[in-house]
Amino acid sequence: MKKFAAVIGYGGMGGWHTQHLLKSDVFELAGIYDIKEERRALAESRGIHAYATREELLADPRIELVTIATPNDTHEEIAIAALRAGKNVISEKPVTLSMESLERMISVAEECGKIFTVHQNRRFDVDYLAMKQLHDSGEIGDVIRLESRVHGSRGIPSDWRGMKEYGGGMLYDWGIHLIDQVLMVLGWDVDTVRCRMDHITNTEVDDGFQLEITFKSGAFAYVELGTYNFIPLPRFYMKGTKGTALITDWREETQVVKCKHWHESEVLPVETAAGLTKTMAPRDSVTVDEYRLPRPASDVHDYYRNIAQAIDGRATQLVTHEQMRIDLRLIQCAFESAERGETVSF
Ligand SMILES: NC(=O)c1ccc[n+]([C@@H]2O[C@H](COP(=O)([O-])OP(=O)(O)OC[C@H]3O[C@@H](n4cnc5c(N)ncnc54)[C@H](O)[C@@H]3O)[C@@H](O)[C@H]2O)c1
Repeated sequence: MKKFAAVIGYGGMGGWHTQHLLKSDVFELAGIYDIKEERRALAESRGIHAYATREELLADPRIELVTIATPNDTHEEIAIAALRAGKNVISEKPVTLSMESLERMISVAEECGKIFTVHQNRRFDVDYLAMKQLHDSGEIGDVIRLESRVHGSRGIPSDWRGMKEYGGGMLYDWGIHLIDQVLMVLGWDVDTVRCRMDHITNTEVDDGFQLEITFKSGAFAYVELGTYNFIPLPRFYMKGTKGTALITDWREETQVVKCKHWHESEVLPVETAAGLTKTMAPRDSVTVDEYRLPRPASDVHDYYRNIAQAIDGRATQLVTHEQMRIDLRLIQCAFESAERGETVSF
């Protein structure tokens, strides 16, 4: 039998969750609540029940799950109210804005014995899954370096995301997704963090960042988000001890080049302005294998399916409390590093 779920915050992402829940095979949408009357009226006009108050929503005994899709600074207060009302809770990302706040949320969830997690839906992105599968298969050997970039050219959205008091900025907005993805690939044993922020179109919050993460395993990740990049760089680049992989764009397949024979009998040099080079000349098909990997299958409905199972005690929640702590701590270290202009120990 399907469980009832409700959404608090009926903006862009609240709209996504309601559409998703309407198609869900494990949840049924009970309704929404938004602080703005016009958003509640819009929901009603679309045939979605809008509760008049948050209290009314939380008092509905049918509702087992509340998804929070409000601006970042409001997640803690709403999550705690929902947990105390006996609901399981999914918070949109970033789960909240400080470690102290996250610990308060986790401790109320534990006290109430309810599921509390965050919507890291980009764990279902096909480009990220391609990198993870390639890493885990060992096909290009041990991974030494992973680069993850998202480049746009429209600046930071002109809503609360541009304001510090709401938890705006691209590190919180996109950074949390990209960080979570590289940790899912390279592991959670972070050693150091270094970050530099951009302020090209916005002085109050970052409108881009360049983040370096070293891991105790020796691996390295470079994560970059830009909103003023009129020529985007490739989405993913992965370097292993046996080959290299590239995804140019999130709609594209993975290109892999693997070393077949290390030694070459003959190398055709290439000419540069300063003379010939053999070292940097491209390899030929005798010494390397070049191929494309098909895009992995992915179904983002598995996120809510997992929550339904976790509520019944039949699965562990996909995004665990410990992972939520590490993701958010990494964000805090990145802010600290950018402010001090130094590498920060994790
Ligand atoms: N996981 C993702 O892919 C993804 C994508 C976009 C946004 N988000 C996250 O979703 C959240 C919402 O972002 P958005 O783009 O939908 O913002 P939005 O501004 O479009 O919508 C926010 C809605 O919340 C309502 N609201 C504000 N405070 C409220 C409160 N106290 N109680 C009830 N309603 C309240 C607003 O009236 C508005 O309708 C953010 O945390 C954001 O980071 C996640």
